[in-house]
Amino acid sequence: MEMGRSSSCTAGSSTLFLFCFFVSMGLSLLVVATKEKYIVYMGQLPHHQPVDVPESHHKILTDALGSSEVAKERIMHSYTRSFNGFVANLTEDEARKLSETEGVVSVFKSGKHKLHTTKAWDFLGFSDLLVKRDRVVESNIIVGVLDSGINMQSECFSDTNLGPPPAKWKGTCGPFDDFTCNKKIIGARWFKVDKNIPAPDVASPVDYRGHGSHTASIIAGRVVEGANFFGLAAGDARGAVPSARIAVYKVCYVDGYCSDEDILAAFDHAIADGVDIINLSVGEDPGYSVTDAIAIGSFHAMQKRILTIASAGNDGPLEGSVVNFSPWMLTVGATTTDRQFMTRVVLDNGNNLTGISVNTFDMANSMYPLIRGSDAVSLEGTSVMLASRCVEGSLNVTLIKDKIVFCLTIGGPGKAGEIISEGGGSGAIMQVSDIADTPEVFSLPVTVLGEVDGKVLSDYIENTQNPQATIYKSEEIQIPAPFVASFSSRGPNPVYQNILKPDLVAPGKHILAASTLKTSVTGKPNDKRFSNFLLRSGTSMAAPFAAGAAAYIKSLHPTWSPAAIKSALMTTTKAVNMSFEYAKLRDFAYGAGQIDPLRAADPGLVTYAPPSGRDDLNYPSILFPIRNRKKPSEAVYWRTVTNVDNGPAEYTATVLAPAGVEIIVEPLTLKFSRQYENQIFKVTVRVPASNVPPYVLSASLEWKDNVHTVRSPIVIYFT
Ligand SMILES: *[C@@H]1O[C@H](CO)[C@@H](O)[C@H](O)[C@H]1NC(C)=O
Ligand SMILES: *[C@@H]1O[C@H](CO)[C@@H](O)[C@H](O)[C@H]1NC(C)=O
Ligand SMILES: *[C@@H]1O[C@H](CO)[C@@H](O)[C@H](O)[C@H]1NC(C)=O
Ligand SMILES: *[C@@H]1O[C@H](CO)[C@@H](O)[C@H](O)[C@H]1NC(C)=O
Ligand SMILES: *[C@@H]1O[C@H](CO)[C@@H](O)[C@H](O)[C@H]1NC(C)=O
Repeated sequence: MEMGRSSSCTAGSSTLFLFCFFVSMGLSLLVVATKEKYIVYMGQLPHHQPVDVPESHHKILTDALGSSEVAKERIMHSYTRSFNGFVANLTEDEARKLSETEGVVSVFKSGKHKLHTTKAWDFLGFSDLLVKRDRVVESNIIVGVLDSGINMQSECFSDTNLGPPPAKWKGTCGPFDDFTCNKKIIGARWFKVDKNIPAPDVASPVDYRGHGSHTASIIAGRVVEGANFFGLAAGDARGAVPSARIAVYKVCYVDGYCSDEDILAAFDHAIADGVDIINLSVGEDPGYSVTDAIAIGSFHAMQKRILTIASAGNDGPLEGSVVNFSPWMLTVGATTTDRQFMTRVVLDNGNNLTGISVNTFDMANSMYPLIRGSDAVSLEGTSVMLASRCVEGSLNVTLIKDKIVFCLTIGGPGKAGEIISEGGGSGAIMQVSDIADTPEVFSLPVTVLGEVDGKVLSDYIENTQNPQATIYKSEEIQIPAPFVASFSSRGPNPVYQNILKPDLVAPGKHILAASTLKTSVTGKPNDKRFSNFLLRSGTSMAAPFAAGAAAYIKSLHPTWSPAAIKSALMTTTKAVNMSFEYAKLRDFAYGAGQIDPLRAADPGLVTYAPPSGRDDLNYPSILFPIRNRKKPSEAVYWRTVTNVDNGPAEYTATVLAPAGVEIIVEPLTLKFSRQYENQIFKVTVRVPASNVPPYVLSASLEWKDNVHTVRSPIVIYFT
């Protein structure tokens, strides 16, 4: 693991050089040494001799700072349950000094992470009718959800017909003033090491953001009949494992942020509390390199046989935008489902235009005056161009009141909807150059048109005395799927260059699941709608699908390791489609493909965790980065597979490779005489020299017997 973090004076920037220069000249008083929260990671807890761990943290800090009193003031939190470390307010200099202390593995600044903002199960072929369940075993599964808390009032978390918590459960639930657990939500904690809770959020597991309730219900929500979002997306809502238990670890707050030190505190407790699977849907901004906390947490979880599942991030289709890319976790990107929402605009002349948005408002067919943003230019020093785009501050609110405003938004709809809603407009029609595959929910009636319909609309306004229009409530239509959602973050992996990320994809668009009544539907102050169920999109909607599928597999195969479950999910996927404009990144968008929970329950072969000392981690996918494409390249990979079928088995290899690429598998047949027997095979990949290669070459290896196909992607890319 690359966990060392350089906070020393060798870093490259010239200002840092100057700072270091002053320090070394003894002129540090000239510089204000600001203190920030640092995580001091110390690896495993002491095993043998009884040690007072918080006291040992105090001693180490005392030695570094030279004062017991100051050390006491600075320590904010000690990690003592699953791994060893602490959080303290330190200067950069103090952090560096600590990082050189014996027993300290690494010291790094605590960062802030963004929250990655049901029919879909049936769409995955995971229909309730087909699923074989063992409800007793399933009810022993505990899913730890690290997120924004939970809404106990939701029917999705009712404990009807559930027995007492599993005996292995060691967690707690309060007491809290405003929150009690039941037999479904068996534990709840909240973490805010710096005690700075943003209002109106509170110091309890109650969900003020809605994200955590949504996540938890996709993984393990009970079946709720007739769930819908203001009549849209109506159907039965259910989680993947409706009988599983949920343990809530609130680490994200109403402002949408989650901090490293709190995430790590939650891992520390969740591992020791006895959860089976950890669900984490937070990510960081791409390019922001502090990933150590999540890597540490998922590593210690893996050691205790707990699989961490995390979202890939919502910064796609940008190359290298994937977050949560550590090899110890299953990283999940998002695909579109076959559901799209179409929203019609009907003009006074009877003409209809069709846009895309999630519009739950019903204007009751009434016609409203229709104007362009450029017809309502504010006189306060703004331009017609800005007003035509409905940019903040560019519109005269007197002129947009009770009207539908047409805005030429650049790129996506951006903030235009909100600005018109706040200004008292009745609705908004936006024209964009590229219709998003995942329309948004707004706090007023909105539809988003492409350029062709947008032109029809502006011609109508231009040539009509009193232009008027009405916006219809959205209708659900079926579209081809699955495609990788444009927002889903892409690889390659920014740190572990030999590991393909994301690992796989799952539906992440317009997922209907539980919400909270603490905030309005859009979270905007002028939105007066509240709903028990919400349609949300994002990779953090996709990850719970994988977490649910993992919990399902664990319920059928309680002895399987996290690596085996991950392998089962990755080698049994379905193919995914790429829309043309994003096709370049291919496997870096979808990893091994779309999860198929039913097939994953019977994978045939799995790759268990490797013998120690191997650096490829026996990973289910193979990634071959090539630095110099002008020369022929060759790489060799070894994999160990375990037969998890009952009794003997025989598999033969099939390789699919692009022209010119040679992939040799040895041996070509694997014979197993019994269950849980291991076999080793070798894969040699030879890529010829090339002048103008495509960026990514996709190949695959499939091991087949009469029943199973065990597929590993082999991805070659030119760095
Ligand atoms: C840590 O430092 C910050 C900034 O210097 C300060 O606002 C905060 O109160 C400190 N916290 C503790 C626990 O010392
Ligand atoms: C948990 O669910 C969220 C979705 O809200 C997802 O983004 C995250 O990656 C999941 N993490 C785990 C560990 O399941
Ligand atoms: C517009 O939609 C309405 C309602 O469905 C329909 O009756 C009408 O014929 C449509 N008009 C045109 C011009 O397509
Ligand atoms: C807004 O429009 C009204 C009515 O035309 C006008 O009286 C007012 O001066 C305008 N205000 C601004 C800031 O443009
Ligand atoms: C991908 O899309 C193409 C064209 O729309 C279609 O022919 C093909 O069957 C699709 N493949 C999958 C795996 O859905």
